[in-house]
Amino acid sequence: MSRAYEIVGQPNINGKIKVQGSKNSALAIIVASLLTKDVICLENVPNIADVLELLKIIKKLNCPVSFLKNNLIIDASNITYQSLLFPEIKSFRASYYFVGAFLTLFNKVEIFLPGGCKIGKRPIDQHIKGLTSLNVNLCLTNDILRANSLDIIGNEIKLDIASVGATVNLILTSLNANDKTIIKNAAKEPEIIDLVNFLKQIGANIIGEGTNTIIIYPIKKFHKANYKIMPDRIATGTYLLYGALFAKKLTLTNINTMDNYALINALISLGAEMNIRKNSITIYKLNNFDKLQIKTDVYPAFPSDLQQIMSTFLFSGQGISLIEETLFENRFTFLEEISKMNGKFLIIDNKALIIPSKFKSGVVSCNDLRGGAALLLACLMASGTSILKNVEYIERGYENIIEVLQNINVNIKEIELHEA
Ligand code: EPU
Repeated sequence: MSRAYEIVGQPNINGKIKVQGSKNSALAIIVASLLTKDVICLENVPNIADVLELLKIIKKLNCPVSFLKNNLIIDASNITYQSLLFPEIKSFRASYYFVGAFLTLFNKVEIFLPGGCKIGKRPIDQHIKGLTSLNVNLCLTNDILRANSLDIIGNEIKLDIASVGATVNLILTSLNANDKTIIKNAAKEPEIIDLVNFLKQIGANIIGEGTNTIIIYPIKKFHKANYKIMPDRIATGTYLLYGALFAKKLTLTNINTMDNYALINALISLGAEMNIRKNSITIYKLNNFDKLQIKTDVYPAFPSDLQQIMSTFLFSGQGISLIEETLFENRFTFLEEISKMNGKFLIIDNKALIIPSKFKSGVVSCNDLRGGAALLLACLMASGTSILKNVEYIERGYENIIEVLQNINVNIKEIELHEA
């Protein structure tokens, strides 16, 4: 028996969504909370599967948690060192942030390599390069990473790729160095700024977040704090795209509009009508639009995390769109499912031509989180009722998506499939 969503296509979306807190920011900040060895209160924490998996690990470290209505309290006063060879580590990507946090807390770590969506090779060479230059000894055997250093040395590190994960890990590790660390070609994503803002709240001295050079000064003692996680810019973008196709009127609140600049710009170029404010956007259905050329890249360019949803949206256009994916090589696999619904496209290497298509209803299966959100949109675009399988992928990152969509007049419900 498996869970699936039954979705009636062509909704008349109307209403408001209070957008959830950021998945990727929350995952980094929850791990960073452990550094305080004290009680941390986080607000706006999304209640999603990846966060719940992370909290299972936190509890195993002797840190009690209370998670109610998006308010998370973590008591890290009695945190104890343990090998992180828990199965939960393998279930999501951000578990590798324990590497940086444990090196600062305990000068050592033993951890399974992380899992996460199957969207490409996802190497960790930049983490290793950076950690090595901070004088961390590393040993990678099979799927276990062991790292230690009694003497973390502040250094200048130039990343070859502006990796979000490597930037987070190197920030966390260098808090325990003997001198300042300079990360060049650092990731500039808003989630990095959010993490650094949190670290400043617990006592860190860091400058340059949001630029490509971040300087971290070491610190001996952290203190407790309360912090509100930033809004989720990918959930914002997802619902904005759903609204652009189907909304009589859809208002998104609890957002940082600036974080979605690239998407808003793309929608404006297609003629979308929106009321844009600093922390909310109202969007109306776009009648007839042409085509787009999109190239994903690191922030502030068009985010890879919205590529699949945008590609699906563009099947409704009048012209042929061109999508270039530069971050993750397997982020077009969801298109195989779209072809079952009559979607026409052509993939050549890391580019896809999206050919205007009318979707028919069908039974399709999620293979990753954002691809799942894209297939959900495809089901909304189809005429008739579709079934979306493997919805656990979607629930890794979208909070209460069924309820959120039902509240804006989408006919969607969870069903159980009895499959042979
Ligand atoms: N890369 C390397 N070597 C490394 C690290 C990364 O070659 O050591 C490459 C990756 O293969 C990729 C590019 O660099 O081609 C960017 O990867 P990055 O490290 O920035 O991504 P990540 O930290 O693994 C985070 C988010 C992703 C999001 C990317 C890009 C988390 C937990 N995950 O992943 O979020 O797509 O940044 O913005 O923060 C999602 O939310 O659906 C998701 C996949």
